[in-house]
Amino acid sequence: MTTAANPSVGLVGWRGMVGSVLMQRMQDENDFANINPVFFSTSNAGGAAPSFADGAGKLEDAFDIGTLAKLPIIVTAQGGDYTKQVHGELRNRGWDGLWIDAASTLRMNDDSIIVLDPINRDVIDAGLSGGVKDFIGGNCTVSCMLMGLGGLFKNNLVEWGTSMTYQAASGGGARHMRELLNQFGTLNNEVSSELDDPASAILEIDHKVLAAQRTGVDATQFGVPLAGSLIPWIDADLGNGQSKEEWKAGVETNKILGTGNGTAGKDHIAMDGLCIRIGAMRSHSQALTLKLREDLSVTEIENLLAKDNEWAKVVPNTKEASMADLTPVAASGTLDIPVGRIRKLEMGPEYISAFTVGDQLLWGAAEPLRRMLNIVTGKL
Ligand code: HSE
Repeated sequence: MTTAANPSVGLVGWRGMVGSVLMQRMQDENDFANINPVFFSTSNAGGAAPSFADGAGKLEDAFDIGTLAKLPIIVTAQGGDYTKQVHGELRNRGWDGLWIDAASTLRMNDDSIIVLDPINRDVIDAGLSGGVKDFIGGNCTVSCMLMGLGGLFKNNLVEWGTSMTYQAASGGGARHMRELLNQFGTLNNEVSSELDDPASAILEIDHKVLAAQRTGVDATQFGVPLAGSLIPWIDADLGNGQSKEEWKAGVETNKILGTGNGTAGKDHIAMDGLCIRIGAMRSHSQALTLKLREDLSVTEIENLLAKDNEWAKVVPNTKEASMADLTPVAASGTLDIPVGRIRKLEMGPEYISAFTVGDQLLWGAAEPLRRMLNIVTGKL
């Protein structure tokens, strides 16, 4: 039950994919007991609030600045266009409530903090004491990478790293996930009779699939076929050979860790690599090469990672364990961040490989937001 002491929290974008995961996690963890939720809608103001929020009034208009401005806390997963449209106007009116947002719009602003509290609780607490009001969820690959490898990054053991990503369809949105599955279906239909016949020629099947990929599959969302292929570019072209998704790896890693500006005792970490879309559903993976500042044994590294946070799960570097536990299928729908394939590379004793997987809708999007809300309400 909510009480008068609970803060009123405006919830915007709760019906979309990230918002739905957020609402589910908040119900699972009984977070609604600590807040007085006020649900907003961009299209159905006046409609009924969701049934899981006992006692919430009707849906408020998400573009009604006056109503929003009455709230001490707003949590949004509505997307970047909404943030652009509403946040500045609210602030210009003098609203000084807390804005907790999944979109990237405000992430790199000097007066915002990227929230990932198992990794940067110190940065969040210092921000709250210092009057920071905008708390933004990080890029999904960056958040999942830091959750898996926090034990190295937080102990200032990484000099530089490359992250080569294998990003799931969900990163594009719900329509992208549907398109991927439709593409798989189209390709299967194309050759289903041949697949039923064990004697059919595999090269003939391959030929028909390729023809369908090139001419027959709907690729409205991705622009090109993803099923049975991959897309070696994610997000905007920055014009210098780097994609925006790749740029985020470096800037957000350092901002989250508080290593962005040569903070005393915290060295800047160069992070860069290529971001690739693959045909996974909702878990992003990444293969990393890390140059460590010290020659640590694999056992020391694994111990540091395992004890950093309760969600990082070290997977032994064996074929069996990697195939069973270090895949999108294993990680999806869980808060675990498996991290494995840790071994020394040929380049020298300070060079290691690693591979992590994380559900990009959980630690990659919803979980840091609900935890930030819990920090504010004193539950965390
Ligand atoms: N930009 C990410 C992706 C998702 O396209 O996979 C949001 O962090």
